[in-house]
Amino acid sequence: MDPVRNPFAPGAGSQPPELSGRGAILDEANIAIQRALIGKHSRSQMLLGLRGVGKTVLLNKIAEMAEGAGHVTSFIEAPEGKSLSELLVPKINQTLRKFSLVEQAKAKSHQALRALRAFASVFKVTYGDATLSVDPEIGVADSGDIENDLPELFVRVGEAAKAAGKAWTLLIDEVQYLSGTDLAALIVALHKISQKDLPVLFFGAGLPQVAALSGEAKSYAERVFHFPAVGPLVGDDARSAIRQPIENEGEKITDIALDDILQKTQGYPYFLQEWGYQCWNIAQGPQIEWSDASQAAHAATRRLDDGFFKVRFDRLTPKEREYVIAMAQLGAGPYRSSEVAIALNETHQSLGPRRAQIINKGMIYSPSHGDIAFTVPMFNDYLMRNYVNKPRKT
Ligand SMILES: Nc1ncnc2c1ncn2[C@@H]1O[C@H](COP(=O)(O)OP(=O)(O)O)[C@@H](O)[C@H]1O
Ligand SMILES: [Mg+2]
Repeated sequence: MDPVRNPFAPGAGSQPPELSGRGAILDEANIAIQRALIGKHSRSQMLLGLRGVGKTVLLNKIAEMAEGAGHVTSFIEAPEGKSLSELLVPKINQTLRKFSLVEQAKAKSHQALRALRAFASVFKVTYGDATLSVDPEIGVADSGDIENDLPELFVRVGEAAKAAGKAWTLLIDEVQYLSGTDLAALIVALHKISQKDLPVLFFGAGLPQVAALSGEAKSYAERVFHFPAVGPLVGDDARSAIRQPIENEGEKITDIALDDILQKTQGYPYFLQEWGYQCWNIAQGPQIEWSDASQAAHAATRRLDDGFFKVRFDRLTPKEREYVIAMAQLGAGPYRSSEVAIALNETHQSLGPRRAQIINKGMIYSPSHGDIAFTVPMFNDYLMRNYVNKPRKT
């Protein structure tokens, strides 16, 4: 079919042609957004799920909804090894500039900018822009202890938002890369905000380990965050992710072709997009047949192996690769880490640091005590395909 009209969108964060199966999460987000505007509190949301399930897409959608409702939004993607203060200062600065345009919020915005200036200087955040030319406020957000200072700063921002009759929505993607200290400070800050009923909303997204990381950072994290699970699409949701975009282009797909796609992708959104994309290009028409889907499987797998899977694998050291390959050889997982140790002829303890490194890189996580699993769906198949059954360079 005409590749120019191909509706599918495989790619990290790419807006899918049909955002299937996420109605409940979006409805809840929408209620929180509306409540913030009338001064009512909502729990922060932390979307949790494996790679490629559509967390970034959801965060973007929520940001768009919040903007549409009149919130000022700040979207941050936490990269590995950057501090939260560094990431936040420029965003909060922008936010306060927007609030300060509202006449009755000028004073509160100015006060918040002074707190921001103090915060930036104590955490040594430098940035070229001369817009922080206000005097720092002495004694606010400047102790150097982020768990104390971030809450004070958030309260100032919340007060400015309230004075402006608006709300501030902060969104952070890849939360698992925040340090424990930064995550703890964020939780305390959001807790403080909720106690004061200030119009500040938080939406985060991250790998499943973020639930445990939050609990370790602050024991009351579960009172601050609601943790909606973002999983693979099932049944009609998975079907419409493929069928709807095709029909919207005036084309068709047979039921058996659709069943084949659902079975091979297990409903994982990234895989569905990749399969849909290949099927469309391969099919000659007038509709997408089972034989097209079956051919598309090869093309889609190759694309995933050279992209989605490979970028993850490339980030591992040779020793870490040895570890994940040993996992894959044990089946689909989750795995007992003691079994991986036996497979590698090592002790559970001696492998501890290596396992921790792979967890920090966001490649594996611990779904329950003593267990580990891949954060990338079907990663075991990828490893078996490329490094065990048909060895190539590791
Ligand atoms: N609800 C959905 N229905 C269909 N496709 C989706 C859906 N959510 C995401 N996708 C697709 O899945 C892929 C991965 O989305 P992304 O948001 O990057 O995942 P994550 O952030 O969880 O790794 C993208 O190609 C996107 O278009
Ligand atoms: Mg993402």
